[in-house]
Amino acid sequence: MKILVTGGAGFIGSNFIRLMLGRYPDYEIVNLDKLTYAGNLDNLREVGEDGRYSFIQGDICDAETVEKAMAGCDAVVNFAAESHVDRSIGGPADFIQTDVFGTYVLLEAARRHEVERYLQVSTDEVYGSREEGSFSETDMLEPSSPYSASKAGGDMQVMAYHTTFGVPTLITRSSNNFGPYQHPEKLIPLFVTNAMADRELPLYGSGTNVRDWIYVTDNCEGIDAVLHKGEIGGIYNIGGGNERDNITITRAILEILGKPEELIRPVTDRLGHDLRYSIDCSKAHALGWKPAHEFEEALALTVEWYVDNRWWWEKIRNEDFEDYYRTQYEEREQA
Ligand code: NAD
Ligand code: DAU
Repeated sequence: MKILVTGGAGFIGSNFIRLMLGRYPDYEIVNLDKLTYAGNLDNLREVGEDGRYSFIQGDICDAETVEKAMAGCDAVVNFAAESHVDRSIGGPADFIQTDVFGTYVLLEAARRHEVERYLQVSTDEVYGSREEGSFSETDMLEPSSPYSASKAGGDMQVMAYHTTFGVPTLITRSSNNFGPYQHPEKLIPLFVTNAMADRELPLYGSGTNVRDWIYVTDNCEGIDAVLHKGEIGGIYNIGGGNERDNITITRAILEILGKPEELIRPVTDRLGHDLRYSIDCSKAHALGWKPAHEFEEALALTVEWYVDNRWWWEKIRNEDFEDYYRTQYEEREQA
């Protein structure tokens, strides 16, 4: 099988490419990635020399580039997206462009190339927040942020292309991933790398917001299961079953690193901050997939990875990142 992976230089995409090349000796992977601030070829340095892997730097919104990249591919797995909620609040345009328009460009090409499978990597955030119970795949979408609204827009395009044109689509909606190669703008790597340098950990609002955490390779295994065994036209929730509030995660990170709780700094809340995400994953479990990692162990492994791999994140926490960080948190203090 030859698979076009888009956004493969990002966090989850790079973990997915590693998994696929390791698991399927006769698979070929074409990675199409724009290399935005979030794309990083260091994430794939061990597969760069593999003859079954090729890389194209390009934009999923560019039909000509997509056309060439998809030629000869049997399947498409679309990870490419603007993925950070805070950045979407600061500037939604790139989110709508990539997450909605880019998805449409990919679907048009998938239709023309008659690919066997088109898998859209989506998120539990499209359902919105709920205080009790869990969302199933047929529930209404009520996204809260420009990010989740753009992801919901992408999902809607995928569903329409299946219904109208018969494109063989699949959608996965996963919960919050964590693990190696996650950009330090996100909660866990931000707090780990801040705490390592004895910097404050900016905890939004009350710190009681709940996310369901999944170790990144467990999500990649779920995507693999859906790609190979999912029912065409189907949607599959992929969650870790580890609901924790942010203050619990923050304390756990500090404890692993042996740092004091005084580093916690409550800051003004994120606008439109969803209180809790929760998904029912029985449909994905029925495919034979289950997450393999226990949360506390996987968190400790993740912290250890950031401690051992300064070379990777110190390049990302560069001047541009520190400018972004300063603006984010100065604005929060002023609010
Ligand atoms: P990421 O931000 O780490 O990586 C995104 C990748 O997409 C980057 O390599 C970037 O260069 C590339 N990209 C962005 N715009 C592009 C464009 N126009 N054309 C080509 N490439 C482009 O994101 P991630 O955390 O790895 O998330 C991957 C996917 O999974 C996203 O679709 C995201 O919405 C979804 N998702 C993420 C999580 C999570 O917890 N991180 C959870 C659920 C779903
Ligand atoms: O639920 C899946 C989603 O998870 C994905 O679709 C998104 O791509 C991914 O970014 C993630 O979104 P979140 O907004 O949940 O992740 P983030 O790491 O930004 O924040 C996690 C929680 O931590 C959230 O409640 C906000 C809070 N937070 C975050 C940051 C960056 C803080 O308290 N302080 C911070 O500095």
